[in-house]
Amino acid sequence: MNVLVPGGAGYIGSHAVKQLIEAGHRVVVVDNLCRGHGQAVHPKAAFHEVDLADTPALTALLREQAIDCVMHFAALAYVGESVTDPLGYYHNNTAGAISLLRAMDAAGVRRMVFSSTCATYGEPEQTPIVETTPQRPINPYGWSKWCVERILQDYQAANRDFSFAALRYFNVAGCAADGSLGEDHEPETHLVPRVLLAALGQLEKVTVFGADYATPDGTCIRDYVHVDDLCKAHIAVMDALRPGEARFYNLGIGKGYSVQEVIDAAGRVTGAAIPVGYGPRRPGDPAVLFADAAKIRRELGWQARWTDIDTIVATAWNWFRNHPHGYRQPRNIKSAAGR
Ligand SMILES: NC(=O)c1ccc[n+]([C@@H]2O[C@H](COP(=O)([O-])OP(=O)(O)OC[C@H]3O[C@@H](n4cnc5c(N)ncnc54)[C@H](O)[C@@H]3O)[C@@H](O)[C@H]2O)c1
Repeated sequence: MNVLVPGGAGYIGSHAVKQLIEAGHRVVVVDNLCRGHGQAVHPKAAFHEVDLADTPALTALLREQAIDCVMHFAALAYVGESVTDPLGYYHNNTAGAISLLRAMDAAGVRRMVFSSTCATYGEPEQTPIVETTPQRPINPYGWSKWCVERILQDYQAANRDFSFAALRYFNVAGCAADGSLGEDHEPETHLVPRVLLAALGQLEKVTVFGADYATPDGTCIRDYVHVDDLCKAHIAVMDALRPGEARFYNLGIGKGYSVQEVIDAAGRVTGAAIPVGYGPRRPGDPAVLFADAAKIRRELGWQARWTDIDTIVATAWNWFRNHPHGYRQPRNIKSAAGR
């Protein structure tokens, strides 16, 4: 298939591009590089520095490259930033998706796999979270993604040959098992890279937000799904989509690890003492969040291969220790402490 990948220079998108190419697909990456890295784009993928807002450029590319499917990863994805800049988030993530859909409409491209998020569930009353759990986002980032899910449903209802899948990721972690790709966000807010940056001495300490939750060790429990597994799910979904379908899947491993367990895993994997500081709870952080991923297992046979936290952290460490400054030199990570 010919696949357009908006956001293919980012963490997850670059891993998906690699897998698509290895599976024999032809890939065209579009990314404005606001958060991504040119070096992360697979050498066999065509790369175009294009913003999601540029509908004419996207339309031309979709036509010229005879694209069959769009795998849409491009977004801004910091919860805190979305609270202070909601318009920026709705503009980039929601209006950006509309622009992309308009381009697809004009070019007659009828299939999309969309990066959604468990942030669309907000603070659910029950875990594990199933796809029918009510979606009540609690921040503009979650709403900006929820809006795209809504728009996709309405667009699909009006265009019955269009098909899409919204994949609701939990916490994506790890790096390509072969060490070729990594995770490099600026600032870095995700737990696994932060503990590894602390192990490398690039971060003074990892701040744990709340150690008084009703969990066995008092810290929050989250579902960490390996990026390679996540990308495999994307390809399985893309292959399965038939005209007129709207599919929704949770992507997680179906169990959670506590923040403390991730820190302990990083200590074992790196052999370093991870400096830790304890701070107050953050508003809107539920004690326990993990996915029920039975639906995609039942329907497509997808199941996460990496479920052991030490192994997941080890794949990330493999990349971080060989790329201590990520894709750039040098990394200014200390300023991000506590975010
Ligand atoms: N990382 C996670 O744990 C996680 C969890 C749930 C959902 N997601 C979603 O997965 C997707 C990828 O996340 P990531 O962690 O790889 O983020 P990332 O920031 O590494 O990648 C996003 C990419 O999109 C590009 N981009 C953003 N806005 C753009 C625009 N207007 N035009 C063109 N390119 C643009 C950025 O330059 C970047 O390369 C996002 O949609 C995110 O919301 C991620």
